[in-house]
Amino acid sequence: MQTLWGHGISMPPKVLIPLMPSLPPLLRPAIRAIEPEKWNLQRRPDLLELQFGENQEPLSENVLRAIADSGRTANYYSGLQDELVNTIATSKGVRPDHITITNGTDEAFRLISGVFIEPGDVCLLFVPTYPAIKPSVKMMGGTIHPLALGPDHQLPSLEDLRPHLTPQTKMIYLANPNLPVGNLMANLDQIRALLELPLIVVVDECYVEISQWSAYELVNQYPNLIITRTFSKTYGLAGLRIGYLLAHAETTAILSFVKVSIDSFIPSTSMAAAIAALKDEAHLAHTLARVATAKQTLNAGLRALGLTVWDTLTTHTLVDVSPAGFTAPAFVEKLRGNGVLVKTCDVYDCEEPGWVFFGIPPLDRVDWVLGRVKDCM
Ligand SMILES: Cc1ncc(COP(=O)(O)O)c(C=O)c1O
Repeated sequence: MQTLWGHGISMPPKVLIPLMPSLPPLLRPAIRAIEPEKWNLQRRPDLLELQFGENQEPLSENVLRAIADSGRTANYYSGLQDELVNTIATSKGVRPDHITITNGTDEAFRLISGVFIEPGDVCLLFVPTYPAIKPSVKMMGGTIHPLALGPDHQLPSLEDLRPHLTPQTKMIYLANPNLPVGNLMANLDQIRALLELPLIVVVDECYVEISQWSAYELVNQYPNLIITRTFSKTYGLAGLRIGYLLAHAETTAILSFVKVSIDSFIPSTSMAAAIAALKDEAHLAHTLARVATAKQTLNAGLRALGLTVWDTLTTHTLVDVSPAGFTAPAFVEKLRGNGVLVKTCDVYDCEEPGWVFFGIPPLDRVDWVLGRVKDCM
């Protein structure tokens, strides 16, 4: 029987989906070409899970109330879209006609690829990086061309990029801050230079509330710029799958038209929660302060144990465990035996043998996590 790779985080590490012999000829070649990313994630509620870098601080009472209240109107298709757009516009200082609401960044990538990628098109990205755009490009028949980041994990210069630009190059993706290093990999001038090329430039601003850096001021000038943002991380709503795009009004009109035509409604609970989260600025400030303190304490403790640690602009920390004589997989396994689930950086196309991705624990668990790491040494 023929098989197709599938992956599901609840089915570690990978599951082969058996296919009836009559099915493969019916599949689009682009679907057959999708390979599973190396997420290697497990769900283990019995351990402290620090694999995703989501914000583990509690949601505000206002958000919890909005989620509960939204249940009362769950029998209707949601009508909160305009309110969410206006709340984002006020909260983030952006224009309503620059906003497209999405079901999180994954869906945003699918929307962007669906609008712009044709079979044969190429998307450039710079590794190591966050990989989720890859399947969306491949699903449309495009291919991914990974290029190595330049020195200090920065975007390569335009001169270094030029030989890789072909008539097929349709899109460039960059996460700013990037993963797993958690640094800003490009400044506004570098992004502007990319935008002068006849390409779509996708800038992933997943951690904008921490990095305080945005390419938004370029949106009005460059219709080929699309910024992705999410409520998954700093707002702590990863499970509700909600985010938004920022782009030129003309680009937004196309993206919103396609989104609404194909996938008309965003879940009302997700939108209600996002609106309440945006309005609760005090809670965001409180959460960001706790995440920063937890990260500082964790980093200092890991450094005191002789490990190399990066100062990230995200909700995770990056640790090199090789100074302690570990490879990343050996360390991850040992720490799992001690009750904490972290992950290697394979999924980011990272070749550093000792790099380990740590989500930031809740502030009140940091000392416990440090104790578990110490037990591994
Ligand atoms: C750079 C980056 N973009 C996007 C996401 C995920 O966002 P979403 O939950 O909205 O799909 C992550 C999550 O780790 C990320 O690190």
